[in-house]
Parts: sequence; structure tokens; C-alpha cells
Amino acid sequence: MKVLEVNITTKVIDFFKQNLKNNDLIIVNQLLKNFCGILEFFDNQNEINELIQVLKIEQNIVSEPDRAEYGDFQTPKNLTDLTCKLLKNKVINPQIVIEPTCGKGSFILSALEHFPVIEKIFGIEIYPKYVWETKFSILNHFLTNSQKEKPEIQIININIFDFEFQEISKQHKEKEILVIGNPPWVTNSTLSVLNSDNLPKKSNFKNLKGLDAMTGKGNFDIAEYIALMILNNFSKHNGHFAFLQKNSVTKNIVFDQLKNKYSIANIEKYNFDAKKEFNVATDASLFYCQFNQKYTTTCNEYNLYEPTQLKYQLGWFKNKFVANLTTYSELHEFDGICPIVWRQGIKHDCSKIMELEKVNGHYINQNNEQFEIENDLVYCILKSSDLKTGIISQSRKYTIVTQTKIGENTDYIEKKLPKTYQYLNSKIENFNNRKSSIYINKPNFSIFGVGDYSFKKYKVAISGFYKSTNFSLLLPNNEKAIQLDDTCYFIGFDKLAYAVYTYIILNHKITQDFLNSIIFFDSKRPITKDILMRIDLLKIADKIQFTGVSEFYNNELKQLDISINEQDWIEFKKSLNNKPKTNEINLFSTIYENKNACNI
Ligand SMILES: C[S@@+](CC[C@H](N)C(=O)[O-])C[C@H]1O[C@@H](n2cnc3c(N)ncnc32)[C@H](O)[C@@H]1O
Repeated sequence: MKVLEVNITTKVIDFFKQNLKNNDLIIVNQLLKNFCGILEFFDNQNEINELIQVLKIEQNIVSEPDRAEYGDFQTPKNLTDLTCKLLKNKVINPQIVIEPTCGKGSFILSALEHFPVIEKIFGIEIYPKYVWETKFSILNHFLTNSQKEKPEIQIININIFDFEFQEISKQHKEKEILVIGNPPWVTNSTLSVLNSDNLPKKSNFKNLKGLDAMTGKGNFDIAEYIALMILNNFSKHNGHFAFLQKNSVTKNIVFDQLKNKYSIANIEKYNFDAKKEFNVATDASLFYCQFNQKYTTTCNEYNLYEPTQLKYQLGWFKNKFVANLTTYSELHEFDGICPIVWRQGIKHDCSKIMELEKVNGHYINQNNEQFEIENDLVYCILKSSDLKTGIISQSRKYTIVTQTKIGENTDYIEKKLPKTYQYLNSKIENFNNRKSSIYINKPNFSIFGVGDYSFKKYKVAISGFYKSTNFSLLLPNNEKAIQLDDTCYFIGFDKLAYAVYTYIILNHKITQDFLNSIIFFDSKRPITKDILMRIDLLKIADKIQFTGVSEFYNNELKQLDISINEQDWIEFKKSLNNKPKTNEINLFSTIYENKNACNI
């Protein structure tokens, strides 16, 4: 049954029916404190009067409001139980329990069931309905377990960003504390779309400057802010911290440990199936650490459902932040600067017009319009999903490459390629309506991600979005270089043999293991230019030697039927001695300046 718009058991309803005969605020609150430990169950007399009224009406059905801005994903009881069981197995037995955004209170209930010496519980929650639900559930717990010791419990209806943790922190310095919960799953950029102010007042809390604050790097999870509030207030206390949160939040906390140096150790993450538990398509885990320790900068990774088996250890190895410290420590010598600059594919933001297919010798665009154009500017193009096989020499799609370098004048198209011009010009509105500011004041039909490198006949390419580090070798189609879209990265060559050597080096076990040790596959775009620029091709080439190359070639690439020989291989390696110009790559001299270097 629902009372005050919340779920309530018949046991609790019967309790109130029997005990609310005297409706004096002080007497009722004292009675409830004796029954279940909650201090000031009712804040004022009106609340009691309202409950009495509502209890007279049998059913009270209400619809749920949209709570997107509150990142509201209530934890199922089985998951809060599993979390508490895991903590109990670590011989954690807290005296003070804090649930910073307690929702309907399932963590509080599990804590009451698992930890016998709790003296005080603090639950904080912004939504009054959930405050009631938590209170009623606690009352129900003690009506069912009346013999149990009752801690003093405060369920506080307040915005966490207005809550002063210092008070609790100061009062309980000597006690063993457990901060446990599942903070809101929402980012500041989602909140800005929702026009919500459910944000800390100082929302640029990472002190990001200018461009970083404007781009994705200024985007943060509210959960991260709350976790840092907890660390600021309690990391020097005896106790423990256990939060269900997105993996990206855990990664950021461990990443920032190098500068924040919170007194936390035994940092662990226990992956769980967020789809199954919360019906959310994201990678999430239980973050755990122990307070009041010498600070550490690594995190052990487990599976919550089989928590004894260590999977990986992520974190800092000297000045590099990596996904698998064990493998990385064996392969870190290959973490350098790639001598060839990795490029992102073509960006046009106009797929309806620029993404073409060929049907019966005619091109059709994404609007299903059929047209004729000269072949001069038409190129095969591959998307991430096309990069599944080793060697590729054709494509499903085509595109029009209107420029050979960024900003190039496109007037020539009208004079030289009238049909192409007619097609493009008939769609000028689509080009002009592109939202990105990069197209402002640029020639008509401008594209990005184009340069000499786009026209190299042979390419080695990879998708930025897939959880695979396999590279593809692209051969020209009708003598023309195959293009890639901006979800892909590539390096280009004039000589097929050099592309083949690079393909072999990149798909070699050493490179694959190295990449798997530095890539965080739960990132949105796990493979970035920064990651690829860390592959020291020359060092790996030296390691695998020509014997390794010819073995790979004979096993997997024989159909190419080219001659590879040691002299050529030596020449190729010499060509790798040229370091790229610093203005062509984002040099990651200090890791803080460029978090992407670590793929966060
Ligand atoms: C992901 S839910 C988890 C609830 C609960 N911790 C659990 O594990 O079931 C996040 C909770 O945070 C609450 N919340 C969101 N913003 C809040 C804020 N600014 N202050 C306090 N609570 C907030 C939501 O109402 C929601 O109950």
C-alpha cells in the first residue's frame, strides 16, 4: 500500500493506527525513537496530522514524476546486501554509517542487517518521498526485529550540496566510519540540457580552464563531486568508503590521486552488470577504499559476483596512468612516441548529402536521391564498423572529398567538375546549416580531417570506438586511396611494403598486449590519437626483428604476393628514425596537461 505517496508495509500501517492515537509531536517522536532509533521521525505536527488523515483513506495511488535530474537509480536490495556482505568479509564493522544520498534506504537496511555494532546512522536525501520511505522501512525493520539493538538514526531531507559534513566528521573522529551508497548517476552536461540546478555551487570543481572547461573535459559526474566531498571530510578518519558508481568516476579518482594524495589505500573496484542491476547501459562498479592510510595510486579490479579473483590492477606506473599495471610493467619500454603521426579520418557533418552508395552505376545519397557526378572527387570511405577484417580494398560507401587540405578554396569544382558542383550546390543549405563552429567562414562544402596523408595509397587503420585493437590494411580501390570517417584513425604510406611492415608490427602480440595494458575499454572512445601516438614503432620493430615479420607475413599475408626482404625492412626502420614535429602531435610531456594521453 502507498501512504504519503510511498510504499509502506501493513505492519507499519497497523503500528501507526495503534500508536497515533496521541498525536503530540514530542510524544510520538520519542515513541518512534524507542521503536526504531530514528531521531525526529516527524519534523512537525502537520506531518503527523497528514499521516493520520491519509491512513483513513485505504489506497493512495500516484504517478512517479520524472526524476532524470536526480540520477535516480535505486539500488536493488540484493545488490546492497551483496555489497555489505563483501565489506563484512573484509572484517569491516562500522560504528558510524553515512549514506549521503540514501534514496529509499536499501543500503541503510542492509547495513542494519549486516553490521551489529552500529551506533549512529546518517542518511541524506533530497526527495521527501524517499525520506519517508526510508523511515517507514527502518520502522518496519525494527517492528520485525524488535529485540535488535537500535542505533540512533537521522534521515535528513536536504540537498547534499548544502549539507555540512564537517560536523559529523568532527564529532566522530575516534569512531570507525563507513560511508556507503550509490550517488546520483547524472553528469553536469545532462543537467544543463535538463535546465536543472542539481549541481554543486562551484560546479567547475576541477578548476578546468578555458577550452578544457568548454569541451568534454569539463563534463563531470555529480557522483564524482560527492565522492570528493566524502574524501575531503573523512579520508583522515578510521573507516571505509564504498560507493556504487560509473567506472569513469573511479578512474578519475585514482587518476587524481597523484595530485590529490587523499589518505586512502587498498583501492578496489568490483565490476557488476549495470544492465542487469539498474537497466543502464554503462560500465559501473563498486568503488572501495580504506581511509586513514598512506596514500596509494593504484586500484585492484575484481568481479563483484566472484570477488576473490583479482582481474587487473589499474593506476599509475611512474608518470603513466595505465589499465593493466602487470602487463604494462613488462612492456613499458614500448611506451614512447610514434614516429609517424596518426590521423583521424574525414569529418563533414553532412552525412545525408556526403554519404553515398552506388546502385546500378548511379550514386544515391542518404535521402535516397539518385544523381550523377564525375568520379574525380569520389572516394571509397570506411566507417568503424567496416574495419573488421585484416585487408580491405573496397567499401560499402563513398564520399566526395572536396578539398586536399583544410581550408582549400573550392571554387575549382564549379569550373572543372560541373555535375559535382551542381549536386553540391543544390545542397548548399545542408552545408550551411552545419552546427559546428569549425565550418564558419570556410569555403563552401568544406570538410575536415583532410591533408596529404588522406591521399596516401596504403593505409593502416583502426576504429576509435571498438573494444578491439586489431588494425586493418587498406589497399587502393581503382588506384585511389580509401578514405576513413572521423571515428577511425590511420597512418598512410606510399609504399605497400612499409604499410605491410607497420600492419605486422601493430598486430604483433607485443603491440597488442601493450595497447591492452594502456587502454581503458570502458571509455566512450577507448582508442584515441593520444593512445596511438604512444606506440614506439621503432622499438617494437627492433624487438620483433625481420624474422618475426617474415613469419607473420608467411602465415597471414601471403596472398598480397609482394616481395619483402631484410634490406627493405632495414630501410623502413631507418625511416622510423624521423620524429614527428611537435606541432603535429599533442605532446604529453606532463600528464596533467593532457588527461587524454591516459585516455580518461
Ligand atoms: C542513484 S540513486 C541511489 C539511491 C540510494 N543511494 C540507493 O542506493 O538506492 C541517487 C539518489 O540521490 C538522490 N539525490 C539526487 N540529487 C541529490 C541531492 N542534490 N542531494 C541529495 N540527494 C540527491 C536521488 O533522489 C536518489 O535517491
